[in-house]
Amino acid sequence: MAESVLLGEVQETLLIPLYGRARDAAQRRSVLSDRKAIELVVAIDYDFTKFRGPSLAGSVLRASIFDEYVRDFLREHPDGTVVDLGCGLSTRFDRLDNGRLRWFDLDVADTMTLRRRFFDDSDRYTMITGSLFDTDWHAQVRERPGPIFLLSEAVMLYFPADQVHATLRQIAAAFPASPFAFDTGGPIMMKNQDRNPVFKAVPARMKWICADPATLERHGLRLRQSRTFATPQPSVARTWPARYRHGLKAFGWTPPVTTYKLNLFTTVGQD
Ligand SMILES: C[S@@+](CC[C@H](N)C(=O)[O-])C[C@H]1O[C@@H](n2cnc3c(N)ncnc32)[C@H](O)[C@@H]1O
Repeated sequence: MAESVLLGEVQETLLIPLYGRARDAAQRRSVLSDRKAIELVVAIDYDFTKFRGPSLAGSVLRASIFDEYVRDFLREHPDGTVVDLGCGLSTRFDRLDNGRLRWFDLDVADTMTLRRRFFDDSDRYTMITGSLFDTDWHAQVRERPGPIFLLSEAVMLYFPADQVHATLRQIAAAFPASPFAFDTGGPIMMKNQDRNPVFKAVPARMKWICADPATLERHGLRLRQSRTFATPQPSVARTWPARYRHGLKAFGWTPPVTTYKLNLFTTVGQD
């Protein structure tokens, strides 16, 4: 029998990138080849077909850019620790596992209850139930020796700026000199939400407007890279179907593309 879902408003949005990855996996030229996403979409009792539009492919392209940030870290630190804050039903651990790293996936209780129906902890993979805005998870992660890569994909966008800024300072202080990847959206992206077909299908709305990720340097971060869908890492662009590469190159300067940024920071731990 299919698994029913009982998820809060923001939590339900995890089903959008899941469906995006499942559709991508069914393509002849798939970017992520996430076969598990297909299994999950089949196993979960939910009308995924209500999700339409470019955000589905966008969630796949976004995941591939974030994957490469993590891969770069693991090339330098193969025994390093990765923490995915607000993991949803992401399969990033399976995609990037090098047989040595240590991985923590964190999400809130209702999402984790769903996740645990499909994923198991192992000696190098641990799921944590908690909120990225709390500090409870810090100690468990900080027990790990060596470098830590923090990542939060399509999560903080849904929360008010003050709450996000305070949490960035908290995380920067707790994990100094750590890479931290997350996305930001400018005013145009936020204003156009009601016109985005995926947001017509769910009640959640994004709240945090960040026009320039460099302004976050005042919250204990240093900006290292800021990419849009038009400026992926060259190694990532090569994995994208030509229609995305060429289309995004042609329209990459337009506000709908430039407003959404996939950033890599380093925490400096200052307030
Ligand atoms: C759009 S989904 C993104 C999921 C995943 N990062 C991905 O890209 O597939 C938003 C996620 O934020 C999670 N979330 C909501 N509130 C959270 C919180 N306070 N702490 C951590 N995660 C949270 C939701 O449960 C959901 O998994």
